[in-house]
Amino acid sequence: LVLVVDFGAQYAQLIARRVREARVYSEIVPHGTSVEEMLERKPAAIILSGGPSSVYADGAPGVDPAIFTSGVPVFGMCYGFQLMAQGLGGEVASTGTREYGRTPVTVSQPGTLLEGMPAAHNVWMSHGDTVVQAPSGFSVLASTEVTPVAAFEDLERRMAGVQWHPEVLHSEHGQQVLEHFLHDIAGCRQTWTMLNVVEEQVEKIREQVGEGRAICALSGGVDSAVAAALVQRAIGDRLTCVYVDHGMMRQGETEQVRKDFEEVFDSLDVVDAEDQFLTALAGVTEPETKRKIIGHEFIRTFEAAQVRVFGDAKEGETAFLVQGTLYPDVVESGGGAGTSTIKSHHNVGGLPDDLNFDLVEPLRALFKDEVRAVGEQLGLPERMVWRQPFPGPGLGIRIIGEVTKDRLDTLRQADAIAREELTKAGLDREIWQMPVVLLADVRSVGVQGDGRTYGHPVVLRPVTSEDAMTADWARLPYEVMEKISTRITNEVAEVNRVTIDITSKPPGTIEWE
Ligand code: XMP
Repeated sequence: LVLVVDFGAQYAQLIARRVREARVYSEIVPHGTSVEEMLERKPAAIILSGGPSSVYADGAPGVDPAIFTSGVPVFGMCYGFQLMAQGLGGEVASTGTREYGRTPVTVSQPGTLLEGMPAAHNVWMSHGDTVVQAPSGFSVLASTEVTPVAAFEDLERRMAGVQWHPEVLHSEHGQQVLEHFLHDIAGCRQTWTMLNVVEEQVEKIREQVGEGRAICALSGGVDSAVAAALVQRAIGDRLTCVYVDHGMMRQGETEQVRKDFEEVFDSLDVVDAEDQFLTALAGVTEPETKRKIIGHEFIRTFEAAQVRVFGDAKEGETAFLVQGTLYPDVVESGGGAGTSTIKSHHNVGGLPDDLNFDLVEPLRALFKDEVRAVGEQLGLPERMVWRQPFPGPGLGIRIIGEVTKDRLDTLRQADAIAREELTKAGLDREIWQMPVVLLADVRSVGVQGDGRTYGHPVVLRPVTSEDAMTADWARLPYEVMEKISTRITNEVAEVNRVTIDITSKPPGTIEWE
């Protein structure tokens, strides 16, 4: 186990993922965690992450120097690198020159940390303060134009650090730096593989559920599918999967989900709840209200399914509920203080406590890319494993305005065309997802054939992302955009204009509501 101490930058999760890519299990701890607490968990190494502060700022998060005498290998990056320098007796100063973004670094002597790397390469920086004097015992490995000490190591104490962000893709050789630290300096064993995860989780689920029965709400997405597949492997047909069709799924989706899932799961309960959901949503336009109503109706539907499945439960029998909760959800809900609710995310996991279930959450420690790898390990069909994310509330939050059956049908047609063309162009993996949004309360004038049209615009929202926390708008090839635009305006009667959203996240979110 490697602990990544989070100093409040958005990089901690990325670091934790990169450590796991080096086949070493890692978890994130908030920077307030005491050294005793960390040592209790017997970490093989501790990584101090980057952070937004200057080590000299009032209230800057610090680190207990006891960490440096604990005998545990320590690696610092960016802010963590400066904390290390400061805590070990080196010197940090503000040089007045910030380095931000792509920065050339010169390797003066590679040591173990930078072994095999070119003497000059580019890394990603983001700092105002600079280490000007390395602590005694450390050798300086690299510098930049304004940073005399950009990397250092002390092999005896098994400590090292870099001023840059090796975890971001823009830092050349970044993963290599991390691996040199983990494998060659800290001596961590490379045991984190998805095969081990499957075996461990199946064992754990058997222990937890015993002879009991479990129910799982499948959304059609990869998380709930992989969670359910793990549970099925553990307890076989004592698992029942429920899929709720709320009428806001995409074209052909329910049939596809049914087909895919029946291949994999012994028992699949498909609930048709279209009327129920659309009735509840009638007249509603406010996004948060829509989300809450959808969440509420989902719970009602699920409660009914629960009675069907566990109807003849014996006194005292525990009912288990499988959820596809991921590690980022766990990290984020742990760090609740000061965070604001941007959207009340409703996935099928958003069930209330009083449903009286024991939760089975076999993916709690995993990142999305690891979930996909587990899915592949379990032999789930590629379509299921690589499905692009689709929000629990479905097309309901992609219609700006009231949700009605007609509008859903219009959006379904436009969306089907967009998805088909994206697939044809071979872009399904490159594009993280591409919501199509119907501006149902907006009309614009157009001309088609000989006549004037007065229809609705749709918005294409193609994005690239690694984890949906941040995203960039995708530069779709012009030919693909053209094809989608022509087909949608020709084939979908109500739509006479196709627009494209070129906002990154932040400031935009991926979905429009
Ligand atoms: P936003 O719009 O917040 O979306 O940038 C981030 C990712 O989450 C998906 N999303 C949801 N997924 N239930 C879900 O299961 C929801 O209520 C929900 N809202 C957004 C969105 O599609 C994107 O992948």
